[in-house]
Amino acid sequence: MLMRRWYLGALLVLSSLLTGSAAVAQEAAAATEAAKPAAESGTNLTAMLWLMGGLTALIIFVLLMLFALLWQMRPLLRKVYEIETIRESWYGRALGLFLGDTVGLTGKYKEDVMAGHDYDGITEYDNDLPPWWKYGFYVTIVFGIAYFVHYHVSETGQLSDAEYQHEMAEAAMLAAKLGANDDPNKPTDYKALTAAADIEAGKAVFAQNCAACHGQAGEGKVGPNLTDEYWLHGGEVNKVYKTVKYGVTTKGMVAWKGKLSSKQMLQVSSYILSIQGTNPANAKAPQGEKEAASGKPVAKL
Ligand code: HEC
Repeated sequence: MLMRRWYLGALLVLSSLLTGSAAVAQEAAAATEAAKPAAESGTNLTAMLWLMGGLTALIIFVLLMLFALLWQMRPLLRKVYEIETIRESWYGRALGLFLGDTVGLTGKYKEDVMAGHDYDGITEYDNDLPPWWKYGFYVTIVFGIAYFVHYHVSETGQLSDAEYQHEMAEAAMLAAKLGANDDPNKPTDYKALTAAADIEAGKAVFAQNCAACHGQAGEGKVGPNLTDEYWLHGGEVNKVYKTVKYGVTTKGMVAWKGKLSSKQMLQVSSYILSIQGTNPANAKAPQGEKEAASGKPVAKL
């Protein structure tokens, strides 16, 4: 009866872990659908972590089942253990540990010894404690002392309250830092990068993240043509950078902040400026206002 409840508990834990991972995977799929392929790396990671957690739980479950099976087989195993040649082999000793015989550690097979008392016909074997239990107990003593010293004597460890205060302070610092750098209306004063390495890096970022909407050559698909002189949001490098960083989310342009580093965003912006005037095939019709390469609007003819 006890055994059966034990299996049920393990099954319950396992199934909740698996449904949890399925839910997260679904969420991940929905998220990637919405912001393709922006959030992919982040959500893929969570899905993978859940999958790994699920697999670990499965392995633990199988091991526990095996252990339960062995545990049920103890009477049979004990009979096997009583065969002398088996008892003296290394695997016999390992079996002995499982059955609660210290022979594996002491090197000596302990015969059954009576405790030497008899109360109303009730007698008792003077058996050793099962080694796994005894040594586990010693470990808890060592752990207990180390814990006490770490947290209460040397105070090298933070108690939960101090840990909480520390984390709150850190979060406040981080928020302040982010806030300062994160005002969309604060102009940046970057210069377009021109080094071949940066343009190459920008090209790679573009091919991986932007080509789906803007075309492999920047000719435009869902998103506008990025090779012509017409801009919806400005063609000066800091304006392009701003569009890339904060996106135009209501119009389907992803905000890349947090998905690409500042350097990558500047590299891809510079790459876009480097493909100005390349006239790719299947170019999308111009959108927005015409601007000269400097980013200043061109006087209408
Ligand atoms: C999910 C589709 C999609 C992806 C992916 C995407 N864009 Fe866009 N992008 C758009 C759309 C749609 C617009 C037009 C927004 C508007 O109408 O205001 C746009 C506009 C832009 C503009 C402004 C163009 C102008 O005329 O002012 C730039 C610059 C730009 N994207 C760069 C990028 C870069 C760089 C990447 C990759 C890091 C990228 N985009 C990825 C859809 C996308």
